Amino acid sequence: MAVKSARETELYHQLTRALEKYKGKSGVLIAALQEAQQIFGYLPRQVMIHVANELTIPLAEVYSVVSFYSLFSTVPVGLHRLEVCMGTACYVRGAEKLLQGLQDKLGLKPGEVSADGRFSIATTRCTGACGAAPVIKVGDELYGGMNEEGLDRLIKELKQ
Ligand code: FES
Repeated sequence: MAVKSARETELYHQLTRALEKYKGKSGVLIAALQEAQQIFGYLPRQVMIHVANELTIPLAEVYSVVSFYSLFSTVPVGLHRLEVCMGTACYVRGAEKLLQGLQDKLGLKPGEVSADGRFSIATTRCTGACGAAPVIKVGDELYGGMNEEGLDRLIKELKQ
């Protein structure tokens, strides 16, 4: 078993305290996981196990919620998480090329974080804005009709 650093130990204490208010309540898993993600920045396996244990919820249920909702990430994320929609409408309008362009411009692969901690790349399911395909999601913002120039503008905007 891996030894936790002092910082990690503190984060787990913080999480345990944060989860107190959810104990014994139903329908709280999403809120609890959001808090866990705020504390750790993402949801690694050990954090999901901790949440499951503290709330006495089956780990499989925690996994299924985390994998269903795109707001959760099981890998470290940058300050700006650029999610390329890979839904059907976006896919047929060049989402794959967009994803490749983003990787080339940022020198990152999905799941990696830039050295300065500012950017990470991910893919997502349909965001519901198919009419604007291909779409990139950054936080709550959707950027539609994306192309090469759009990517350059977006990255420049986010760097400021
Ligand atoms: S498929 Fe991309 S927004 Fe629907």
